[in-house]
Amino acid sequence: MILLTGGAGYIGSHVAVTLLDAGLDVIVVDNLTNSNQASLERVQAICGRSLVFRHADIRNEEAIYEVLCTYGVTAVIHLAGLKAVGDSAAQPMTYYENNVVGTMRLVSAMTRAGVNTLVFSSSATVYGMPAYLPLDEKHPVEPTNPYGRTKYFIEEMLRDLYASDDDWRIGILRYFNPVGAHESGLIGEDPLGVPNNLLPFVAQVAIGKREKLHIWGDDYDTLDGTGIRDFIHVVDLASGHLSALSHLKQPGVVTVNLGTGTGSSVLEVVRTFEAVSGRPVPYVIGDRRVGDVATCYADPTLAERLWGWKSSRSLTQMCADHWRWQMKNPNGYRGT
Ligand code: UD1
Repeated sequence: MILLTGGAGYIGSHVAVTLLDAGLDVIVVDNLTNSNQASLERVQAICGRSLVFRHADIRNEEAIYEVLCTYGVTAVIHLAGLKAVGDSAAQPMTYYENNVVGTMRLVSAMTRAGVNTLVFSSSATVYGMPAYLPLDEKHPVEPTNPYGRTKYFIEEMLRDLYASDDDWRIGILRYFNPVGAHESGLIGEDPLGVPNNLLPFVAQVAIGKREKLHIWGDDYDTLDGTGIRDFIHVVDLASGHLSALSHLKQPGVVTVNLGTGTGSSVLEVVRTFEAVSGRPVPYVIGDRRVGDVATCYADPTLAERLWGWKSSRSLTQMCADHWRWQMKNPNGYRGT
């Protein structure tokens, strides 16, 4: 049995599908802060298999300990956490409490229950301003906001944990920019309020929920002046978790990028989205967003070398799948 924390969220629901499809049993623990339990009904419909859901917070060590023991959990994939960069600057302590303290309590429950295999959801945001490209795992780490620092501190905490007890098997996954949705259109990203990230905003403009996209700067030193990111299909990202889990057979701690290795500009995304949806995506150029970098993309070769994992889905497929989810669920999971 695999424990998936944050399994009702955007990435978590896709990881749940991947695990169930691989024949693994799954228990999801989620506090439903930024997610909806309806996603798990959809996951089960896609897979034709059931999972167990427990509404609990990872900071509740006793609840986690009880889950680990009751269900005979053998490994944990830990995705639960807060992730909005702007909010993290306004409420840093809430971020440290949820992300860092939450992970400490989870690890403590795992230690007591004798579970020592952990896959942790980190972020390419830990790299901060790129000193060179593509970003490999040896690139210096210098996050520029509290959210990024929570991810980095947790990474360091997990390395210290392994140094103190070399029975642990730990995989740290640094995600680039997850986008898209399951091809069924049944699960996808369901942001609360105004989306911060590019793809959900573009999709809401295409469907007419928002008037226009604001492109944060077209004066970067890039081909068309807009920012370049390594967008990765969420289903490819999800399969990276299964690869990590399957390869954590020996004790150790390994840190791996999950990206495609290819950067796409904001304008390229807009044009691709217009092409697959057949809808216009009007935009205006605004000022640069504080904290944004011009270009960011991964060197994803370590994941392939270690685990045989690499992404396979194109930007067109990312946009097509994102659009299918948006069309089928104009209000996300609300009302389901
Ligand atoms: C953001 C977070 C990062 C987090 C990641 C995934 C910031 C500074 N960074 O990354 O920590 O790990 O999301 O959740 O918030 N853009 C627009 N208009 C918009 C939205 C975005 O032009 O309305 C542009 C941005 O300027 C950027 C690109 O689109 O060039 C991608 O932005 P976004 O989707 O927010 O991802 P990141 O900034 O890379």
